[in-house]
Amino acid sequence: MKAWVHHRYGTPDELRLADVPVPTPREDEVLVRVAAVSLNGSDSEALRGYPGYARLGGLRKPRRPILGSDLAGRVEAVGGKVTRFAVGDPVFGDNLSRLGGLGEVASAQDRSLARIPEGLGFREAAALPQGAVIALQGIRDAARVAPGQAVLVSGAGGSAGSFAVQLAKLHGADVTAVDRAAKAAFLRDLGADAVVDFEREDFTRGGKRYDVIFDVFVRRSLSAYLRALRPGGILLFVGGPVRRMLWLLLAGAVLRPFTRKRIRLLIVRARLDDLREVAELTLAGRIRPAIGHVFPFDEAPEAFRLLVDGRALGKVVIDGTRTPSGRSDAAD
Ligand SMILES: NC(=O)c1ccc[n+]([C@@H]2O[C@H](COP(=O)([O-])OP(=O)(O)OC[C@H]3O[C@@H](n4cnc5c(N)ncnc54)[C@H](OP(=O)(O)O)[C@@H]3O)[C@@H](O)[C@H]2O)c1
Repeated sequence: MKAWVHHRYGTPDELRLADVPVPTPREDEVLVRVAAVSLNGSDSEALRGYPGYARLGGLRKPRRPILGSDLAGRVEAVGGKVTRFAVGDPVFGDNLSRLGGLGEVASAQDRSLARIPEGLGFREAAALPQGAVIALQGIRDAARVAPGQAVLVSGAGGSAGSFAVQLAKLHGADVTAVDRAAKAAFLRDLGADAVVDFEREDFTRGGKRYDVIFDVFVRRSLSAYLRALRPGGILLFVGGPVRRMLWLLLAGAVLRPFTRKRIRLLIVRARLDDLREVAELTLAGRIRPAIGHVFPFDEAPEAFRLLVDGRALGKVVIDGTRTPSGRSDAAD
């Protein structure tokens, strides 16, 4: 089968289209013929090998050379212990532990996958898993956003952020979205009440204070975050340079009795109920995967370039289906 592989950390130029063996599913795995895969910040981090956690299991070179964790497709074969799926079932999920979505066929853990509900296309299904579940677990569970609260989402124009803006609105919050100026109209369209261009304005110095700051990638100092939080407020983050994350957690915990402000790393839990919930919310029209770009399989490096260069709007989807000519057809 064809797959995009990278054997060194670096830029999208490291990606090569190669012929590789079709994976053999282990007992608890499902072989999925990939119809669509969406990219997340975690994919570009795994390509670059930065921050440090992106090299877990592969310090010098990538342990899993085929990227792509958010995938959707049809079951091609199942391992001996898999009872939930049969050949031909449409499935989707975040295959973060195995990756492989940038191959024509990927092996995924049974417990990472759910059946795609009727009415949801492959592209939409692929756009949901990682970003929407991070946002759901952050906004609903960790921050428990309530009506009337002031919520700031930093990195709002990307994968998790575009869902966090919509979910915070759904919970009745007043939402400020931080990202590049070029994404302002896109962010307002997602429901943001206010938009901050991070290249021109520092939201921690704007005077406004927030009950919840949801930052997909921490870049600011502890004092800056604390300044921007209201008493009783919470900073939730999901990624960032390792030393900065550790410092924020440690110093935040020590100072908490004095500041009355919480700082928390959101570690995403693989819960299929949450995956099903974001799919239901999508089908009900309450949120939408903001798919800004769709690329054919053969142009996967271009999709990565968009992400790495800071030109991506919301979700970037790669259509996994290939025709003999090498171009791709829409799967849905
Ligand atoms: N904790 C966990 O369990 C877990 C699990 C999975 C993933 N993650 C982490 O989640 C993080 C990525 O989230 P994602 O997939 O949503 O990333 P993403 O799609 O790359 O989105 C990041 C967004 O932030 C914007 N941005 C860049 N610089 C900014 C700045 N200074 N201020 C505000 N926004 C800025 C980006 O704009 P441009 O693209 O235009 O630069 C982009 O729109 C990664 O760090 C990943 O490791 C954590």
